[in-house]
Amino acid sequence: MKIAGVVLAAGLGTRMKSSLPKVLHRLHGTPMLQHVLNTLHALKPQKIVVVAGKNLPEFEKALQDVSGISFAVQREPKGTGDALSKAVPLLKGFHGTVLVVNGDAPLITKSTLKNFLSMHKKKRNDISVLSFESRNPGSYGRIIRDGKGKAAFIIEQRDASESQKMIREVNSGVYAFESGALPLLKKIRINRSKGEYYLTDIIGIARDNGLGIDAFCAGLEDEFMGINTRRELESACSIMKERILDKYTDRGVHFIDRNSVFISSDAEVGAETIVYPSVHLEGRTVVGTGCRIYPNVRIVDSIIEDGAVIKDSTLIEDSTVRRNASVGPFAHVRPGSVIGEEAKIGNFVEVKKSVVGHGTKASHLSYLGDAEIGDFVNIGAGTITCNYDGHRKHVTVIEDGVFIGSDSQLVAPVRIGRDAFVGAGSTITTDVPSGALALSRAKQRNIEGWAERRRAKNRKIAKQSAKSTGKKLRNLR
Ligand code: UD1
Ligand code: CA
Repeated sequence: MKIAGVVLAAGLGTRMKSSLPKVLHRLHGTPMLQHVLNTLHALKPQKIVVVAGKNLPEFEKALQDVSGISFAVQREPKGTGDALSKAVPLLKGFHGTVLVVNGDAPLITKSTLKNFLSMHKKKRNDISVLSFESRNPGSYGRIIRDGKGKAAFIIEQRDASESQKMIREVNSGVYAFESGALPLLKKIRINRSKGEYYLTDIIGIARDNGLGIDAFCAGLEDEFMGINTRRELESACSIMKERILDKYTDRGVHFIDRNSVFISSDAEVGAETIVYPSVHLEGRTVVGTGCRIYPNVRIVDSIIEDGAVIKDSTLIEDSTVRRNASVGPFAHVRPGSVIGEEAKIGNFVEVKKSVVGHGTKASHLSYLGDAEIGDFVNIGAGTITCNYDGHRKHVTVIEDGVFIGSDSQLVAPVRIGRDAFVGAGSTITTDVPSGALALSRAKQRNIEGWAERRRAKNRKIAKQSAKSTGKKLRNLR
């Protein structure tokens, strides 16, 4: 079945009380419109047209990937009928079924759209509308059926009579048009009460023109929720959140306290991973199987491979943590970093744009920036890569098997050769050859009996001062 998708997204969304176009408001971390586009993409349409308002650049910026999407612009929001007619020129040459959806209904599922399209096809309709039974039909358009039970027309709530308002079967805003029926849009007349061209009028018009039409009732009410206000956005967020968490629970993820967890709809989590309270997995984060993500961890656009452990209060951004590695507690892995297999990044360690090799350990209090660190390296507590000279950033290279003693500074650009040692407390400013020991601290000397001599001197001074002031002697060290 050849399909094209059209998303109506040019409405102002005045009820949101915001300057941001309504469909760009985020639902669970992702713009509503992006959710709708993801669902449409899953149906593999030949093309997708988004009808945007005059703030088109904002749309292009907010969406993840606009390749394969064409934008039609509706400068003035003159109603849903007018909006769809703006998409028609971009569908020129397309012959098949045009699936029309609202950009403000992001909870719709692929399976409901598929069922709807197959009913449309089976009945060989020219135009079909997807309807649902609403507990509280509110502002939805009502589906009016004729004596034979066939859909006859749609009436908007504001234009409906009291008895029509009682009807619970309502318009979801999803339609299927055979491309041949699109010219009929020209017949929609302006609605006097709202001054808009209502797409809903197309059903009555098509019927009067002898075309095959009907409404198919499918899906559950929740997924058709049109978001017009911030309250509706909040309710939709909790529905989306439950859906996401249920999906992962069913796949074998264990949530200790699901209420406090946030997982973006673009993220992935593997089976047998344990997610502790207050964990946020944002953007396109992928967590593998058998991982443990401890409390208060935020992971953004990163890959956490199988078996990795992320300990308490850790932030990981735009980075990769390889298999069985351990990061945290209180660690910060900044963009562009790779933490190698079985590596360990411990307490109060900051890693920035650095590669940390297999089995390498930086267990405490370090800053590793712009560093290339090999395998099985030991980074002692308090090690700092001095990567910034006030103007530019420089690279530190630490080869396999190196041991960096505690409290060392590595002033970049610098290279520490394979298996070399850096003595604790050293400031390294030039390259260290493989296998060498580098020491840059002052040599230690011990002064025997110094403490006793100091005590004797202090006692003498105190005695003299007691004599002159008449005060009692205190116990002196
Ligand atoms: C619309 C339907 C209603 C249906 C409901 C489902 C009409 C007249 N009414 O009502 O029957 O029950 O959706 O949620 O169609 N838009 C444009 N240009 C415009 C106006 C709107 O692109 O000039 C877009 C909006 O961005 C939005 C969608 O069309 O994504 C629906 O518009 P909205 O104003 O929210 O329609 P509703 O009043 O909810
Ligand atoms: Ca709406």
